[in-house]
Amino acid sequence: MSDLFRKKAVAYDDAEFGMKRVLSALDLTLLGIGAIIGTGIFVLTGHAAATQSGPAVVLSFLVAGVACAFAALSYSELAASVGGSGSAYGYSYAAFGELIAWIIAWDLILEYGVSVAAVANGWSGYFNNALTAMGIGLPEQFTKGPFAEGGGGIVNLPAIIVILILMVLLIIGVKETARINAAAVAIKLLAVAIFVGVAIFNVHPANWSPFLPFGWFGHDGAGKPIGVLAGASLVFFAYVGFDAVSTAVEEAREPQRDVPVGILSALGFCTTIYVIVSALMTGIVPYTSLNVSSPASEALLLIGHDTAAGLVATGVIFGLTTVMLVLYYGLTRIITSVSRDGLLPPYFSAVNERTRTPVRTTVLTGVVMAIMAGFIPLGILAELVNIGTLVAFVLVCGGVIMLRRSHPDLPRPFKTPGGILTPVLGVLSCGALIVFLPWETHLRFILWLAAGLIIYFTYSIKHSRLASTST
Ligand code: ALA
Repeated sequence: MSDLFRKKAVAYDDAEFGMKRVLSALDLTLLGIGAIIGTGIFVLTGHAAATQSGPAVVLSFLVAGVACAFAALSYSELAASVGGSGSAYGYSYAAFGELIAWIIAWDLILEYGVSVAAVANGWSGYFNNALTAMGIGLPEQFTKGPFAEGGGGIVNLPAIIVILILMVLLIIGVKETARINAAAVAIKLLAVAIFVGVAIFNVHPANWSPFLPFGWFGHDGAGKPIGVLAGASLVFFAYVGFDAVSTAVEEAREPQRDVPVGILSALGFCTTIYVIVSALMTGIVPYTSLNVSSPASEALLLIGHDTAAGLVATGVIFGLTTVMLVLYYGLTRIITSVSRDGLLPPYFSAVNERTRTPVRTTVLTGVVMAIMAGFIPLGILAELVNIGTLVAFVLVCGGVIMLRRSHPDLPRPFKTPGGILTPVLGVLSCGALIVFLPWETHLRFILWLAAGLIIYFTYSIKHSRLASTST
């Protein structure tokens, strides 16, 4: 074991920071499913089918799923061999050193924090529809922020409120959160089952033709990428969150076994669901009718199954809640971990004595995300999430390749199959999906990275715990 690994291990053994080891492999798989199935399948499938891929959206899901599988296998190898906390951050600290680790952490903060705000926005849309159906819809100016497409409102109030409620749940404690999550995941899966159970008997194969109306890759009149691959870049959002399982390493009972099992089971399960749901959705109605904010229930309404549509919409509201809960949880654990290493002020890693949860970080991030969700439109938030996540995946796969070379003898309880082929394919496939994102997203991401570098060179480099223990 190198000095670096030993120092990392010492840092993580510190009792003063200890959290409770209460999560089983099943809890972790449910955490993963809780984070994964959400806006991507329930909202973006329709948009991608109508504007990017047609019925071949099922191929877009497969392409994005394969890219994620390479990254998931790499995550599993690092989680089992390097350990530590804070997801990709913990591993890259060992593989690349502090600066790159900080960049990954900064990137994951973007991924998780902005995801919560983005999904809160989508949640708010479904929630308002439900209120409206009951005759108690909110005035429009309180359902969208000032920069929303097609005329701004004042603030997206439900999006703010749901984040503040989740903030309280996370303060209460991790085991309680896992229990609530498990119940909500069950409801979400029931909604998927209802959709599949009804749709499977109403498929008209004619709807799958033409299967590839936009081809594999091309541009629309405005120069925007379209086709199956551009669709894959978009529906990639549906997979965001499986890495959240690896942020719970410290609270897992047997992290070396449970974390790989949790990540891979959650990803495999969700990919199967996505392929089935997207094939059925485009099989029961023409893909051109799916560009709406609630395509799963809209498709059922179009074929005359109103009750099923209402049940599915209710399940989606729960589904989006669990996505936010798990990503928010992951965010607080990453920040805590970075702060322990001295790269952010100690304020962020304080664990409350009574609840044993990082209360300050939970409150601070909750307030910031609530403000983002209340005022920034969903589109801008979602694009940023995809680029942040893909860059983190590329770096994680790169980390596996580097560690195989720099530490060939490191015990690896789990190894990616096919030697370094898996992480190399991960770098290539996730890198390709980045290319298909709009240039504005690339620019916003560069600005975020620049802000991170300023923090690193003005604060983190002087306060790094690792730097001070090695001198
Ligand atoms: N994968 C999550 C979703 O689709 C972020 O909502």
